[in-house]
Amino acid sequence: MRISKTLMMILALILFMQGCTPQPTKAPIPQPSTTSRQTSVTQQTSAAQQTATLLETVTSTSRNKKTFQNLVVGFSQIGAESEWRTADTVSIKQAAADLGVDLIFMDAQQELGNQILAIRTFIAEKVDVIGISAVVETGWGDVFKEAKAAGIPIIFVDRLADVAPDEYVTYMGSDFLEEGRKAARVMATLTGGTANIVELSGTIDSAPAVDRSIGFRQILEGYPKMTIIDSESGDFTRARGLEVMRTILRKYGKNITAVFAQNDDMGLGAIQAIQEYGLKPGVDIKIVSVDAERAAFQAMIAGTLNATVECNPLLGPPFFELALKVANGQAVPKRVPSIEGVFYPDNAAKILPTRKY
Ligand code: AHR
Repeated sequence: MRISKTLMMILALILFMQGCTPQPTKAPIPQPSTTSRQTSVTQQTSAAQQTATLLETVTSTSRNKKTFQNLVVGFSQIGAESEWRTADTVSIKQAAADLGVDLIFMDAQQELGNQILAIRTFIAEKVDVIGISAVVETGWGDVFKEAKAAGIPIIFVDRLADVAPDEYVTYMGSDFLEEGRKAARVMATLTGGTANIVELSGTIDSAPAVDRSIGFRQILEGYPKMTIIDSESGDFTRARGLEVMRTILRKYGKNITAVFAQNDDMGLGAIQAIQEYGLKPGVDIKIVSVDAERAAFQAMIAGTLNATVECNPLLGPPFFELALKVANGQAVPKRVPSIEGVFYPDNAAKILPTRKY
């Protein structure tokens, strides 16, 4: 639609330059001298050249302009460690299919080396844009520089790596620091400001594990009677959350009064371990987790989970919107944060049917 308008304007311009533009009133036509006729021919030639150049520019711009239908995107996903990650993958694949984007999707199975390989594959394939959720923050070497040198823009989705700001175009996703802070504020309310807390942290060196830990501790500084008695990585999986919590319960038993699980899956594993141990999760031990997936709502309805801090995995549609803009050289913000809340048992039953993951 925009192209045809532009072409119409060019046609009008050509007509105008050729003197054929309809005039509102008729004026006497001056008889040109030879010189002035020569000048007129020269002017017409240069006008025709300008028009041809303009036409060529518009044609090549519209030929190069990216749409969803001719956009090629490489996406490096971390793996399938949690329900959150599964929902994120579904969202990305579904959005690509809905929009008609040519998506090359690679699952790194939690391995940094696989993600580096994926980026090099995308560079070789000359994709328009690379999307990546970084499994860990460090150890990336020069791979982002290589993408930049190849002229392929990088968009971090969900998790950022520890790279120079000029090595990526934008980062979209949650504010993990704030999620940690929210969890600590909720925990302070639940425990009246006195607690022996076990922290089940996520994948070591991953952005959410690092930032949620920092944010949680920032708030705890204001509560001297809230102590983290142990902190272990459960790698963001339910199986590891269960295993680690079993070990910690054997060590501290009833001294534990609260659990901060850095994702719902580990929280659900902890709930099982606490029940096996003979205590009541949500009552004897207060539990706050992160993600707000459907299983967490079911646990809140069952009374075994006290709160969940939202972390939105439905990033497919906004990612491709951003990717198209980036591919067309449009300016985008360096940071595109997700808007998220906190959920509690009191309205979990009402909200559960509306949850999409
Ligand atoms: O990066 C987001 C985190 O990664 C989610 O909280 C977690 O469930 C996932 O594995």
